[in-house]
Amino acid sequence: MTAAAVRPPSPLIDEVRDGLSRAQKELSPTLFYDRRGSELFEEITQVAEYYLTRTERALLATRMPPVIEQLAPRTLVELGAGSAAKTRLLLDAMRAGGEAAAYVPVDVSAEFLRESAVKLGSELPGLRVVPVVADISAGLDLPRAMPRPVLFAFLGSTIGNFDEPAAIALLRRVRDAMCPGDHFLLGVDLQKDSRVIEAAYNDSSGVTAAFNANVLRVLNRELGADFDVRDFFHRAWYNREAHRVEMHLVARRALDVHIPHIGRVPFRAGESIRTEISCKYDRASVQRMFDDAELVLDAWIASEDPAYALAMASRGPRR
Ligand code: AVI
Repeated sequence: MTAAAVRPPSPLIDEVRDGLSRAQKELSPTLFYDRRGSELFEEITQVAEYYLTRTERALLATRMPPVIEQLAPRTLVELGAGSAAKTRLLLDAMRAGGEAAAYVPVDVSAEFLRESAVKLGSELPGLRVVPVVADISAGLDLPRAMPRPVLFAFLGSTIGNFDEPAAIALLRRVRDAMCPGDHFLLGVDLQKDSRVIEAAYNDSSGVTAAFNANVLRVLNRELGADFDVRDFFHRAWYNREAHRVEMHLVARRALDVHIPHIGRVPFRAGESIRTEISCKYDRASVQRMFDDAELVLDAWIASEDPAYALAMASRGPRR
């Protein structure tokens, strides 16, 4: 008996079994981000076609400082703690507006958090770094006492990787963690010419394809599955009706995959696993999500081309 076979069933097994038994097979995009997946995502943010990261960074650098200086937050709570460069832009603007007393990065990866905590702590003496290991799609358990006001930030258009009910549930958790005077900064990719969007998810150097395929390696390692990565190819397209990119792994031929504790998973030739959705918004759709989450949209800062926006919100009254 192998070690994998004696290990007890885990929530991951249940999740994967459920996803792979649907008519449209699917996997959670959180499975992308092992160490290799995080490195590949970092590479994606630097390919020419992937405009999201650099466009957001430019907005943060050029348009945010006066807004943040005026709000004068003392704590930054960053959800799905992202790139050090963006965090630094926000913390520097906070310092210019008064004080950056505390930084609370929230992420599923304890290793990632430890690294960024050490780095920022040494760069900005006086800043209290309080990492929180948590899956933001499940809950938001934050330190009780944080110097207020707090600026919550959820950047990179990661909200787009959640379907609408899950996105609203997440926004509502943020709203519930806010006190009067706190603010919430959300980065969202906007609807635009589908060719521009599709190029971003089909980069010519193949990094996105490698990032997508990595999820199969994760299942092989974590669950003892026997996916042959060469049997699947990357496909990503913009679904105009649903305003979202869909990323899939498509089987090149009919085949069976075996996963301990799950069993045989059959694929027809051309059948796919949906590995990610990436929703694209406009001001009205963000406004609707905020209304549903009882957040008030205070400011909308958008770039021209390629279109990307930062939405600033405060806590609305409970209905
Ligand atoms: C993390 N997230 C916002 C990225 C996106 O654009 O949806 C993940 C990604 N998938 C493919 N390329 C980048």
